[in-house]
Amino acid sequence: MLKIAVLGAGRIGKIHAANIAASPLATLVAIADPYFDNALQLAKLYGTNAVKDPLELINDREIDAVVIATPTDTHVDLMLAAARNGKAVLCEKPVDMDLDRARRASEELATLQVPVMVAFNRRFDPSAQQIRQAIVRGEVGEVHQVMITSRDPGFAPVDYLRHSGGIFRDMVIHDFDMARWLLGEEPVSVYASGSRLLNPALAEFNDVDTCMVQMVTASGKQCHINCSRQAVYGHDQRLEVYGSAGMLLNDNMRASSVRRFTHQLTEAREPLVNFFLERYADAYRHEMDAFIQAATGAQPVPVTAWDGVMALKLAECAQRSVESGKPVSVD
Ligand SMILES: NC(=O)c1ccc[n+]([C@@H]2O[C@H](COP(=O)([O-])OP(=O)(O)OC[C@H]3O[C@@H](n4cnc5c(N)ncnc54)[C@H](O)[C@@H]3O)[C@@H](O)[C@H]2O)c1
Repeated sequence: MLKIAVLGAGRIGKIHAANIAASPLATLVAIADPYFDNALQLAKLYGTNAVKDPLELINDREIDAVVIATPTDTHVDLMLAAARNGKAVLCEKPVDMDLDRARRASEELATLQVPVMVAFNRRFDPSAQQIRQAIVRGEVGEVHQVMITSRDPGFAPVDYLRHSGGIFRDMVIHDFDMARWLLGEEPVSVYASGSRLLNPALAEFNDVDTCMVQMVTASGKQCHINCSRQAVYGHDQRLEVYGSAGMLLNDNMRASSVRRFTHQLTEAREPLVNFFLERYADAYRHEMDAFIQAATGAQPVPVTAWDGVMALKLAECAQRSVESGKPVSVD
């Protein structure tokens, strides 16, 4: 049994703790959170230990692996400390707000010979997996275009957004990773537009709430990503892959497939499955299974720290493109 500790007992830490506790291959041995009440409450749910200081667990020789579910500005220090102590690491996205810092960390991590995985959970969504496998099998021939729609149902609190690093590093980062994974080739050019159409308060920290990104790879493959922080009809997550031999399309998920027809409605369906914790519940579970496999050496690490750096690089290019109004080359 792999002994795993969770650092950070907030929204995503709770999901990871539940998935570790449910795994037949791992034991949830401790939770760390400087807000000790958070750690205590989560630890109580699973009858495990709570501590305040994450370093206490990172220095504990009995622990094999840590899941870093703390605020983004703590990720690099915790990842490095854990990996230097020989622990396998699953770290939440993004790796850091700063590309150079993330790159330096990833270079050191590569020398440490421990499994380090970045938590791009959407790769583990069963539908995204099917799409990727269909591409790899050549079902749609050569991929020519990837279209991603990613709209949240509502804003996170402004205080969270103030420290989030902006829409590209915080939210679109998932889509940058998805784009790289599905295109199978690195984008070389990024053009982005960003607007504040929903929340003027974002001006205080120069963020936007509505954006579109266009990317091109060296061989000319194209990707379009559109994002909004607030879709009134729910969490809108769609993927389209268009290739020389066909198209793959992933529609939104609903609680059931029933369609209603009345004198007022035609084809009315259930609302979209709400927000990431619900929509991606399976993805988080499969992500944890993949991490446990990687941490025990049974499988290679499926999403590396370098993948985290590459997605962050595209986020930075998109931010620069919004500021300059011009396409930015990915160097
Ligand atoms: N992959 C995803 O789908 C996904 C979803 C949400 C959040 N995230 C990422 O996860 C991270 C956490 O986000 P969240 O929404 O869970 O935040 P949150 O604010 O709900 O939780 C963070 C927790 O970490 C604790 N904490 C702060 N500093 C700490 C430290 N040094 N050591 C241990 N614990 C510490 C806080 O007290 C809090 O309980 C962010 O980097 C975010 O980008 C990823």
